Amino acid sequence: MDFDKVFENNESWVAEKLKVDPDYFTNMNKGQTPSLLYVGCSDSRVSAEELMGLEPGEAFVHRNVANMVISIDLNVMTVLNYAINNLKVDHVVICGHYQCGGVKAAMQAKDLGILNPWLRNIRDVYRLHHEELDQIKDEARKYDRLVELNVQEQCINIVKTAAFQEAFIERGIKLHGWVFSIETGRLIDLKIDFEKHLKDIQAIYKLI
Ligand code: CO
Repeated sequence: MDFDKVFENNESWVAEKLKVDPDYFTNMNKGQTPSLLYVGCSDSRVSAEELMGLEPGEAFVHRNVANMVISIDLNVMTVLNYAINNLKVDHVVICGHYQCGGVKAAMQAKDLGILNPWLRNIRDVYRLHHEELDQIKDEARKYDRLVELNVQEQCINIVKTAAFQEAFIERGIKLHGWVFSIETGRLIDLKIDFEKHLKDIQAIYKLI
């Protein structure tokens, strides 16, 4: 990678922004009021703002391998709690993607060393849904379906948190599960009925 080019690109970007709005950076310097928290995969092909057509300041972003929301991951939990309680976002998005390397790795019964504890959480999603998944004979379709089910399970992990449950009661915060198709560039809304999931899990996970 040509890093001189990176700094040149940055200069052009600044010039471009200032041409449209001379106060662009002065205003940005005042603070952030994003309306959504986006949790996506670290995959270099799946951007956050760019694929949604959003500007800096519009989305609070967290990315990790396979867009996981793990309750003892202090990183994602800090991001989630800060976004909900301090930034007061009205939407949380979990965005997975087809061709996810993390999901692919978890589908192989193989020792992957230091990656094992992280991938364990994806393997758990497989185990939860193994009856459905094992019926899919086409490997590519099975892979796609696990990506979708993983998004669904991470959405359920969001509704298990006290922060989300509280914000749902207080201001009706919404949750969305999406999949990005690298092949077509399109975002697919899985139309996850998070209110139903919230209701279903509350017998055990009701924290508020
Ligand atoms: Co991925």
